[in-house]
Amino acid sequence: MIFTVAIDGPAAAGKGTIGRAVAARFGFAHLDTGLLYRAVGAKGGDPVAAAEGLVPADLERGDLRSLEAGQAASKVAAIPQVRAALVEFQRRFARAEGGAVLDGRDIGTVICPEAEVKLYVTASAEVRAHRRWLEVGGDEARVLAEVRERDARDMGRADAPLRAAEDAVVLDTSAMGVEEAVARAIAVVAARMEGRG
Ligand code: CDP
Ligand code: CDP
Repeated sequence: MIFTVAIDGPAAAGKGTIGRAVAARFGFAHLDTGLLYRAVGAKGGDPVAAAEGLVPADLERGDLRSLEAGQAASKVAAIPQVRAALVEFQRRFARAEGGAVLDGRDIGTVICPEAEVKLYVTASAEVRAHRRWLEVGGDEARVLAEVRERDARDMGRADAPLRAAEDAVVLDTSAMGVEEAVARAIAVVAARMEGRG
């Protein structure tokens, strides 16, 4: 069976958490596409060469989850040749046999416009920054400023800007715990699978 669940949304909205849970529930493979951009940013040097030469071991680096790695990722993610170098890998993953969940910024709009399910997961910037701060600590005002800066860059870039696909189901998790957000996402996927018979 080929079945793609595309999950997009701004930083710390809960895309990865929902993506992992949906993948586990349906036995699908899961790809956190943000990790690809984080790995390119962390490699340093020429970002286009880094993207073209990306290997699985690059995704295993320990420092990819930091705020700094997130900022570096969103800078290299604005370069069209960097994005182009990563398209094929993501599309192959999305349409592989057995079902796949991909989360990122442009999965439903650019990488997999034919995805069977598109979710746009969001929450207020304050709520998202608080969630990220619980993970990374430090100064919460700085985490909020970085979240806002990254959102503005991701939404404002010319190539594959962050936006909800027209046919995406929008899930605003500002007032939802993880359990409720995951249950709603699973319900959307289950309904779509049933609809296909
Ligand atoms: O992948 P993305 O950056 O969108 O977010 P994440 O890493 O999945 O989630 C960020 C944090 O928010 C995690 O610690 C989650 O446990 C928490 N969280 C959530 O994902 N969803 C909620 N409804 C509430 C909290
Ligand atoms: O987990 P969080 O939402 O904070 O970030 P991420 O998903 O790891 O993505 C890091 C950065 O990579 C984003 O701010 C985007 O600039 C970029 N990205 C992208 O442009 N396209 C994607 N499909 C995924 C990530």
